[in-house]
Amino acid sequence: MAIPLRDNMLVVKDLRKSFGGVKAVDGVSFDVPRGTITGLIGPNGAGKSTVVNSLSGFHGVDGGSVMFDGTDITNWPSHKVAQRGLIRTFQLARELRSLTVFENMLLASNDQPGQTSWQALFLRKKIRDSERDLLGKAVDLLKRFNLFHVRDEYAGNLSGGQKKLLDLARALMADPRLMLLDEPMAGVNPTLAGQLQEHIRDLKDEKGITFLLIEHNLRIVESLCNHVVVMAEGTILAEGNMSALRENENVVRAYLGG
Ligand SMILES: Nc1ncnc2c1ncn2[C@@H]1O[C@H](COP(=O)(O)OP(=O)(O)OP(=O)(O)O)[C@@H](O)[C@H]1O
Ligand SMILES: [Mg+2]
Repeated sequence: MAIPLRDNMLVVKDLRKSFGGVKAVDGVSFDVPRGTITGLIGPNGAGKSTVVNSLSGFHGVDGGSVMFDGTDITNWPSHKVAQRGLIRTFQLARELRSLTVFENMLLASNDQPGQTSWQALFLRKKIRDSERDLLGKAVDLLKRFNLFHVRDEYAGNLSGGQKKLLDLARALMADPRLMLLDEPMAGVNPTLAGQLQEHIRDLKDEKGITFLLIEHNLRIVESLCNHVVVMAEGTILAEGNMSALRENENVVRAYLGG
């Protein structure tokens, strides 16, 4: 009997990235099955953010390959990756402080958010030119994330938690099919962390978005992710569900035990 192949949104093979002498990512291979929230965990400095930076074209890689929904996107620039529907958020929210919340949303619609402030110069023209549905989409997302009442605030004045919400809302302006979330719950209060979890689950269920989630709170990982990838020192240590990983001696020694 034929065994059906797993349908992967992302296939990473032998990824490598060094900074000077530091092998931040040293031969990493893993898959993200379509329609899942896949977890990526591991100790500080394991290379998790470097993996996300590599996948999203934030910087080039030294070796290996990245297949996104059947297309080889290795070393593609971030705007091209984003146009395909692979969108990331940042470990530290990167809102454009001197733009309003609403302006941040509009600016995010066709490019990776928060990377070049010169783009702000073109914002007025862009708003003029943009279609009604873009504005409508921004309004819907701001309401969804409970940010509509602060739409005219400067993004720099938001609370830490609101910035995390804006980061997620902004990423959604680009209609992602795969979202890479780098610690979206870090530093937010437990109530908001709970809301963010529900948002992520709803986005998977309603919009069919696939997620790769970096998160240090393992209760959250356990509740959201069936499949979890563990990194340490630039390599993959283990994969599986959280209960299997808790039994894995290597994982306990490198991460869970500490
Ligand atoms: N731009 C950079 N320049 C130099 N070294 C870097 C750079 N980015 C990451 N590194 C190094 O690469 C290694 C992996 O870092 P990375 O940020 O990917 O880890 P992480 O798993 O995301 O950690 P954390 O859980 O603390 O966010 C670390 O040793 C880090 O110091
Ligand atoms: Mg990190």
